[in-house]
Amino acid sequence: DSGGPAGRDAPPQTRPDASPADDHTAGGGPRGALGAPAARREGLLKVTGAARYAAEHPLPGRAHAWPVPAAVARGRVTGVDTTAALVLPGVLAVLTPGDAPRLGPTDDGTLAVLQNPRVPHRGWCVALVVAETLETARAAAGAVRVTYVTEDADVRLRPDHPAAYEPEKAGGAPGRFELGDPEGAFAAAGVRVDVDYRVPPLHNHPMEPHATTAVWDGDRLTVYTSTQGGTTVRSVLAELFELPEDRITVVGEHVGGGFGSKGTPRPDVVLAAMAARRTGRPVTLAYPRRTLPTVVGHRAPTLNRLRLGATADGRLTTLLHEVTTHTSHVKEFVEYAGLPARVMYATPHLRSSHRVVPLDVPSPSWMRAPGEAPGMYALESAMDELADALGMDPVELRVRNEPDHEPAGGQPFSSRNVVACLREGARRFGWDTRDPRPAVRAEGPLLLGTGVAAATYPFQIGASTASAQALPDGTFVVRLNAADIGTGARTVLAQVAADALGAPLDRVRADVGRSDLPPAPLAGGSSGTASWGWAVHEACTRLASRLAAHSGPLPAKGLTARADTAGRADADSPYARHAFGAHFAEVAVDTVTGEIRVRRLLGVYAAGRILNARTARSQFVGAMIMGLGMALTEGSTVDTAFGDFPECDLAAYHVPAHADVPDIEADWIEEDDPHLNPMGSKGVGEIGIVGTAAAVGNAVHHATGIRFRELPLTPDRIL
Ligand code: MOS
Repeated sequence: DSGGPAGRDAPPQTRPDASPADDHTAGGGPRGALGAPAARREGLLKVTGAARYAAEHPLPGRAHAWPVPAAVARGRVTGVDTTAALVLPGVLAVLTPGDAPRLGPTDDGTLAVLQNPRVPHRGWCVALVVAETLETARAAAGAVRVTYVTEDADVRLRPDHPAAYEPEKAGGAPGRFELGDPEGAFAAAGVRVDVDYRVPPLHNHPMEPHATTAVWDGDRLTVYTSTQGGTTVRSVLAELFELPEDRITVVGEHVGGGFGSKGTPRPDVVLAAMAARRTGRPVTLAYPRRTLPTVVGHRAPTLNRLRLGATADGRLTTLLHEVTTHTSHVKEFVEYAGLPARVMYATPHLRSSHRVVPLDVPSPSWMRAPGEAPGMYALESAMDELADALGMDPVELRVRNEPDHEPAGGQPFSSRNVVACLREGARRFGWDTRDPRPAVRAEGPLLLGTGVAAATYPFQIGASTASAQALPDGTFVVRLNAADIGTGARTVLAQVAADALGAPLDRVRADVGRSDLPPAPLAGGSSGTASWGWAVHEACTRLASRLAAHSGPLPAKGLTARADTAGRADADSPYARHAFGAHFAEVAVDTVTGEIRVRRLLGVYAAGRILNARTARSQFVGAMIMGLGMALTEGSTVDTAFGDFPECDLAAYHVPAHADVPDIEADWIEEDDPHLNPMGSKGVGEIGIVGTAAAVGNAVHHATGIRFRELPLTPDRIL
């Protein structure tokens, strides 16, 4: 090892030798690669600042762009006066709806930027300044004068909104599902809970904003962009710029988080490519923090009505989860909060339905566990209310309603260990000594309580390709256009490869994050590793047999094998496949200040085989922290005057800081599930946020005796 990190001018690279000690800690041999707590291979590059992100490609002559967001909630641009901007020294161009390059057709309306004068919501891009420096671009953006005709904007979400409709699809499933006679069964139920839970808009706010550096070489386009799925970025750019895909290269080597908001291409990649074409210069556009909430999607607010009916011994007779949410006029997105009700509990009567109201608001989109996170907050809070109404322990209530097949679909579960997670969590948390009475534990002005909630997240998988190469020096390289969004994809894919090859982990390198590698699906829906890993496993298995059949030294370019899981990875399964878990929380509620502190948080998961103990734990814990933020501090409001979010930066939108986060424990039950993929892995990226807010809210009820049914649980609500 040469010692220091790669210099700023060195070509971007991964360092398979960055953490040899960790790579061997739990391995004990080549076959031990899978599951070992190998450290992330790019970790040193990241913490030393040597890892290159999308905005950090200082190509010769590189210029900077800054967007001008619409200042009105709805209307039309009547003029863009660029005079004062263009006279500033160093300003290269101002792109406007009147003169920006025309784009090819796209189904994603959020990408059709600067194509016409319509303003569908505040924050919509109405001009783009390009200048020699970032500072000049920003100053010039402030000097652009935009005039509008405004129209009345409709931004208030309410269940009785006349435009509300039932979407055909919610998260790929039917928008409405019904079993039996849920209303009739509710009317007849011996014990009933009828409650409304509200979740506000939430924002992804990855540490690295959405950013792209674009450069044209004739009719070839290269973009360095921050994305969860570079293969899609390439195909979308090919449509928009009407180019064959092989003239476009998408590089996303390091990604500073996305949480769903980088799961689809965002306007930065389109605008940067337009600006680079207009100016003939490489152009970087990094969205300013305060513009992200209107541009990159948000978790749409949900109004959740839950009706639960049960027998006196705690068996559900009916379950109704009815969701109202908003979408924009640009693109339909339905926050599918009603879906987990179709998976969780045995009940003869069931309704899970969605209503969506199109408003003049920014377009919502994926945010970590879309649907499940708000849906399980509502359902698991209502289950706690039912346990109360029954005088029953909330763990026992869940165990009693454990289904033997998926309630909505009717299929058997490929594996389902929610009860094991609840039992193991209860044991570790010390649940058996819990006094069920609310509001009886005090420490001075503090009230203490504990709460539980279950978690679920679907197993999802997509077709992927990969190649595996054996080199004459005894090392191996697997290649595919996977995205490492901070999860450690390079590391875990090397583990999958080492396992399939029977090779030591430090001999295997995974090359990801470039569109000239074999195509691979996005890092999203907790499906990345499950999908990519299958292709890597298969390519390596083939390579291993080719090597076994080969005699003598390898040729200079080594031996290569390829795999494509199309047709198998995406085939329907006869099984209902989901990860499950249980969350336990202990809180202290300050009766003087209204402040809630989480003292303990424990998550126990069942997510198939865990492929890397360290990176999986990091995923679980990171998501639990996001759930803690959802419970206590995160949330925004749709400003009824302007139609966007006043809490648009990290000063106003409060993500948990270090001091807000207790010593979080995450652990898992190993599952041996043969109905998934060759590794036996489900997904670990999202389940940690599912149910966490309910566990915290249930603990707050246990502490105070009061149900707060609207998030976040900020002091103003508590007092
Ligand atoms: Mo996740 S919201 O599918 O990136």
